[in-house]
Amino acid sequence: MGASTVSDVVGDKGELIYQGYNIHDLAKHSTFEEVAFLLWNKRLPTQAELDELNSLLADSYAVPKEVFDVMRHLPRDADPIDVLRTAVSALESYDATARDLSVGNSRKVAIKLTAQFATLVAASERIRNGKDPIDPLPNANIATNFLYMLKGEKPSDHDAKLFDACLILHADHELNASTFTARVVAGTLASVYAAVVGAIGALSGPLHGGANTNVMKTLLDIGEVDNVETYVKQALIEKRKMMGFGHAVYKTEDPRATHLRQFSKEMGERVGDTKWYDMSRKVEEVMMREKGLYPNVDFFSASTYYMMGIPLDLYTPIFAVSRITGWTAHVLEQYADNKLIRPRADYVGPRNVPYFPIDQR
Ligand SMILES: CC(C)(COP(=O)(O)OP(=O)(O)OC[C@H]1O[C@@H](n2cnc3c(N)ncnc32)[C@H](O)[C@@H]1OP(=O)(O)O)[C@@H](O)C(=O)NCCC(=O)NCCS
Repeated sequence: MGASTVSDVVGDKGELIYQGYNIHDLAKHSTFEEVAFLLWNKRLPTQAELDELNSLLADSYAVPKEVFDVMRHLPRDADPIDVLRTAVSALESYDATARDLSVGNSRKVAIKLTAQFATLVAASERIRNGKDPIDPLPNANIATNFLYMLKGEKPSDHDAKLFDACLILHADHELNASTFTARVVAGTLASVYAAVVGAIGALSGPLHGGANTNVMKTLLDIGEVDNVETYVKQALIEKRKMMGFGHAVYKTEDPRATHLRQFSKEMGERVGDTKWYDMSRKVEEVMMREKGLYPNVDFFSASTYYMMGIPLDLYTPIFAVSRITGWTAHVLEQYADNKLIRPRADYVGPRNVPYFPIDQR
């Protein structure tokens, strides 16, 4: 695959960098909006540039009411990640510039989609509960606005800050399955929307972004810290995968998990019950002892979101609310120096098979 400056995963060292910056520095000191700017522009913004981006984002949350109508027509029990994919597909039809792949317009679309993803995911939760979507707050960042549009009340500063860091941690991850998909679609010179719709499809699988929801289902299934040992050992005997463990690239701790473990602990202390954190730690201990596997980004994000009162099936769409920045950064990079991505298959089938008409088979 071609060169990229967007991010790098150094699997043996457990390092993740975005455009040269270590994820630990960004998670501790930056904001999601600054990171979005960094991914798209290869450098951190000045204050004036950040102000401009924030104002463009603030102007971009609104989605055409017809897109909400499309969402209202979907079954109430539709999976929110599928609702998001359908809504983004519909959005393209209401953007007359969608086929303009120039740098200037593609950046505008990237900013617009980043704000609109927050709107769409929050609205999908309200619509399926028979409620109307809520307009965003003026002068609030994406983390605050997402939680506000989801729940109808302003989040505490603590929760908004913690959620902002979660968005930073999920923003990009080199050529993971969904980003690769986005680049393949963009490589045909299809629109940013088309690339992003493909990426959402790839993200939805349980081996990728779908893992976080399944982590929480597993924790709920286990029920108590005392059940962890037996449950995990039995799962491993039955060759069932424990979601949130293992990684195709990291051979040591996923650096994102280091922060999310702390967030899960903090949320437990805030809600006055560290049960989900304690259970997660025990699962981590047993998985390390039995399989030598480390938790990945999805493991501690699950209990963190659960304790923030977020419904389980929104965890994967929330991943997309963040990853839209990385997907679009890669799409911009792909357009800037495009070449069709066309791998060859390692053909292992037969050749020269004689053909018989259907009535002779
Ligand atoms: C992420 C993942 C797809 C990486 O896969 P991979 O590097 O190709 O590793 P494999 O699936 O080939 O697994 C290698 C070995 O570890 C085991 N393993 C890997 N992840 C495991 C898990 N989460 N639970 C139990 N065993 C696991 C496999 O069973 C296999 O064991 P074996 O050699 O005894 O057959 C894989 O670890 C996984 O499915 N994890 C769970 C899903 C998940 O959390 N996805 C989010 C990723 S950020």
